[in-house]
This record gives sequence, C-alpha cells and structure tokens, in this order.
Amino acid sequence: MSTAPLNPLAQAANDALQKDCPVVLGLLAERGKRFFFPAKGILAQGAEAKQKATFANATVGIATENGAPMHLGVVSKYFTGLTPGEIYDYAPSYGKPDVRAAWAKKQRAETPSLGNHPVSNPVVTNALTHGLGLVGDLFLDPGDAVLSADLLWENYNLCWETRLEARFDYFPFFDEKLTGFNLPGFKAGLKRHRGTKLLVALNFPNNPSGYTPTRAEASAIVAALTEEAVAGTRLVVCVDDAYYGMFYQADCQTESVFGALALASENLLAIKVDGGTKEAFIWGLRVGFLTFGVKNGTPAAYKALEDKTAGLIRAYVSNISNPGQSVVLKALNDPEFRGQQAEKVATLQKRAAVTSAECRKAAYADCWDVYPFNSGYFMCLRLKGVDADAVRVRLLADHGVGTIALGKTDLRVAFSCLTEAQIPGVFNATAAAVRAVRGA
Ligand SMILES: Cc1ncc(COP(=O)(O)O)c(C=O)c1O
Repeated sequence: MSTAPLNPLAQAANDALQKDCPVVLGLLAERGKRFFFPAKGILAQGAEAKQKATFANATVGIATENGAPMHLGVVSKYFTGLTPGEIYDYAPSYGKPDVRAAWAKKQRAETPSLGNHPVSNPVVTNALTHGLGLVGDLFLDPGDAVLSADLLWENYNLCWETRLEARFDYFPFFDEKLTGFNLPGFKAGLKRHRGTKLLVALNFPNNPSGYTPTRAEASAIVAALTEEAVAGTRLVVCVDDAYYGMFYQADCQTESVFGALALASENLLAIKVDGGTKEAFIWGLRVGFLTFGVKNGTPAAYKALEDKTAGLIRAYVSNISNPGQSVVLKALNDPEFRGQQAEKVATLQKRAAVTSAECRKAAYADCWDVYPFNSGYFMCLRLKGVDADAVRVRLLADHGVGTIALGKTDLRVAFSCLTEAQIPGVFNATAAAVRAVRGA
C-alpha cells in the first residue's frame, strides 16, 4: 500500500465513485485509486489560454509559425488531406473530442442493448494493447485473479501477469467435442471466485480460435456473469472487441456483449476495449478506445474513470498520435467507410469459407481436429499425436509455410493473410508436416 498522500483530485474522483458507484471504487487497484487527471496543471492552463489568450498564447509546448504548428517539408510531403493542426499538434490525453464523439456514436448504433443507458465517453488509447494495459493498471493489484479462456492472445499474460503480477485462472474455451463455447467450464471458473473481486477477460471474435459465440451462447454468458454478480462476486469484465464486425456465420452474436453487461448489475463493471486496428484495417496507426459501463453509472462516476484513465495516459505516453486520430475521424465520417469495410470483410469471409472446406477434408482426419471458427482472422488445429512446435518448424523448413504453434497441440493459421488460392496448399503441407514429424 502506498504511503504517498492522495492528491486532492484523486480523492475527489474516488469520492464521486464512492457516492455513485461504490463497488467500482472497491474494484480499483491501489494504482487506480491513486490516479487522477492533473486538471489544474500545464494542460488546463494551456486549455484556458487557448480560449482566452487573444493577444498571444505562450503556453503551448510546440512551436508555431503563421498561426499553425511549425513543420518541415520533408515530413509534410507525406501527408495529403490533413491540415498541419491535424497532424503535428498534440492531441488531448483523453483523445480528440470529435473522434471520441464519433466513436461513441458508432458504438451506440452497433449496441442496441444499451438503449439510452449512459456509458462513459470512450477514451482514446494507443490501440487495444494499450487499452488492455490501462485496464490492468486501473484494476489489477499483484495477486488479483483474472479468469480467461485457455485459448487467448498471449500478450494478455505479458501485460497482466508478467507486468502487473495478476494471477490467471483458465477455463477450457471449447467443450470436449469441440462443438461450441464451454458454458459449464466458464460457469465453474466463475464459481471458483465467488464472493471475491474478479477480472474476467472476454474476447470475441477470439484470437487464436476465430470463434464468436452464437446468440444463444452469448445470452448464456451474460446470464452467467449477471448471476455471479448478483451472488456477490465483484466483477470487472473486460470485453476485447478487437475483431468486431468480422462475423461470417448467421448465428454469430454480432452485437458486443458489452451492451448487455453494462446494464447487468451494480457489481459488474463492463469495459469495452476496441478500436480501429482491425475494424478499420489500420494496424500501425494505433488508435483504440476504452469505454466503461455499469448499471446505474452516473456522469460523475464515468468522469472519474475517464479522468483516471487519461491521467495514466498522461503519465506514460502523454497523448496518442494526432494524425492517427484525425484519419479515423475522417474515415468514420466518410460516406464510403461502411461500404469499403464491408468489402474487406466479404473478402475475409470467402477465405474463411475456403479454409473451412479445406481443413475439414477427410484426408486430414488422422492429422488434426478443427476448433470451431466463424469469425475474425484465425482458425486453430488441434494436432493429433505430434508436438505443435515440431510441426511448425517442419512446415516452415520443408514447405515454406509460416504458422504459429500454441502450447503442445495447437497450430494457429491466419487465413486473413492467405489468398484463397494458397489455402489448399497450406493444409496439404501441414498434413505432410504432421506425418513427417510422426515418422521422424
Ligand atoms: C485479441 C486481441 N486483442 C488486442 C490486440 C491488440 O491490438 P492492437 O494492435 O490494437 O494493440 C490483438 C492483436 O493482435 C488481439 O488479437
């Protein structure tokens, strides 16, 4: 426990949470309780000057010329369609207000379960990895429990276990017969932590399996979490929507479970981690969002959470790429955005269909089982009787095919970066590699 005195602004944010959402205050880690946004510091003085300094503004930590940020031709020649202010100036630590508003509008349109229930304004993050890191910074003390599927993006471990010393507990993502989401396993996992504070990580479409729960499964997941919250477990549910929108089968749950969870219980804080990375195909631009929702959440409580998040951003990286945010805003407001996005998703959907047919060929039945997949970028094979990494190495060396080995038996194939023509060869080569390793 820190002995440093609590800043009055942190105290004020904690008081707001205590008054309106006391469970959420209790969910915060010690670091989360200590954090605040330095609203009376340089940034606030600068913001005040921006509005009132009619003669000269000597507050800003950039250089200006001709009323715009100073810049070099060798840099500006790479940008078209953005003003110097949209490229070079600093963005606020919370993110640019218009980008936040546009993303909030998009989220609400895609999440009808929310109705008019208030959620926080999204805070801009350096894409989703940073969002996950901030969730950990706010809510995980060393030793705190995280419940996750056993099929997960490995960076979760680096972020929350290695960096923040949380304790992971896993449930098997699929049932034994690999038909779908393992609801009994999920419920048993929740039950192991009944009555305590628990962070639950949900990621649909899932990396690495490429699975999104069906509508019935998603309702059951929400019901299980709600039941647990009502039974007294204090939950932070982190909803990682990295691959949102990439759904290829009719029974996929196409609305984020964040919507239903944000209204579920005062004992359940839902956090949506999403962004442009995969949804807008802008991996390297680094623009993501963190949004909070809790039953009976109030503007004051959400403001406290947004301030703490922006304070952490200020402390680590100060603010997020301005050109990245400017491009996301322009794309969201472009009437062609939805159509272009749908075209790319349709391309991925065709690759998923070819993958599904190829990997399930009877000729490969001795080599692997296929984990269910219906969305996202990936699919996974559960190899039979061979070590996954040995197969990966052989596949690369003998056939020039790159895949990812996960654990002892699983091989992840990113069909998102294969042409339809390449897909049959990839599975043919994988089967050959499996048999070669067996024979070795
Ligand atoms: C499930 C999941 N969450 C988050 C991320 C991180 O994405 P970003 O590039 O936005 O940090 C990834 C990236 O692969 C992912 O697969």
